[in-house]
Amino acid sequence: MSEPSSTPLRLLFIGDVVGRSGRAALAERLPGLRRAWALDFVVINGENAAGGFGITEAICEEFLEAGADCVTLGNHAFDQREALAYIDRQPRLLRPVNYPPATPGRGAGLFVAARGQRVLVVNVLGRVFMDQLDDPFAAIDRELNACRLGEAADAIVIDMHAETTSEKMALAHFVDGRASLIAGTHTHVPTADAQILEHGAGYISDAGMTGDYDSVIGMQKAEPIRRFTRKTPGARYEPALGEATLCGLAVEIDASTGLTQKIAPLRLGGRLSQSRPDFWEPEAPAQ
Ligand SMILES: [Fe+2]
Ligand SMILES: [Fe+2]
Repeated sequence: MSEPSSTPLRLLFIGDVVGRSGRAALAERLPGLRRAWALDFVVINGENAAGGFGITEAICEEFLEAGADCVTLGNHAFDQREALAYIDRQPRLLRPVNYPPATPGRGAGLFVAARGQRVLVVNVLGRVFMDQLDDPFAAIDRELNACRLGEAADAIVIDMHAETTSEKMALAHFVDGRASLIAGTHTHVPTADAQILEHGAGYISDAGMTGDYDSVIGMQKAEPIRRFTRKTPGARYEPALGEATLCGLAVEIDASTGLTQKIAPLRLGGRLSQSRPDFWEPEAPAQ
């Protein structure tokens, strides 16, 4: 197995990549960030990568080539039907763990990071204002009991794909100390609560989308406005095509405990205020 190392694990988590503009931001920035920050592991939520709905084989492979180690999904996991077959061939693509038992693919994967660290990633769906799936708390509990932090895994990342901040926070506190990071996804809006919880897990309610923020959660504005104001059928949702903001989290994880030592929001490009992890850029001027 890997050499024991005291160097912390550097992890980047990127929120829902939406459509072409999100993919362009990722392709442009991720390879450079991976090198510049010497990242050990990168997780990308790709549930909206293909025209806003689901993911294709070509797009997932593009993410892996750009520097992702694992691509997670959510309620849009199988909007592109080809993903139903592809996911069984691509162990780095994860769908929610609390889907029914016969669903193709896996909800959790144990991967080897850049310097040999073992990283467990679990994708789970919330149930409040969403489809009624199996209990996400029980599902996560099972995964964490089967692969314990500090024993079978050096780091554990949970992508909690859910609508409400309360369900995300409750799940995070439920697993605090047993997982390294609980990153919320799905709402497509970054929250300002990135923090280290009481027992050492990193947390954010939502990492935000990687997409064009001149939009309604990544989609061109006219059709969502129309649907809110008129109760008649209209056009398809289409992703907005302006410059995306790459949104996510920079996380440093202790090599021996698997707990989070440092956490910072990442927002690069596009319309949102910019945020970079100063702990990976000591030479950058203070802001
Ligand atoms: Fe999404
Ligand atoms: Fe979603």
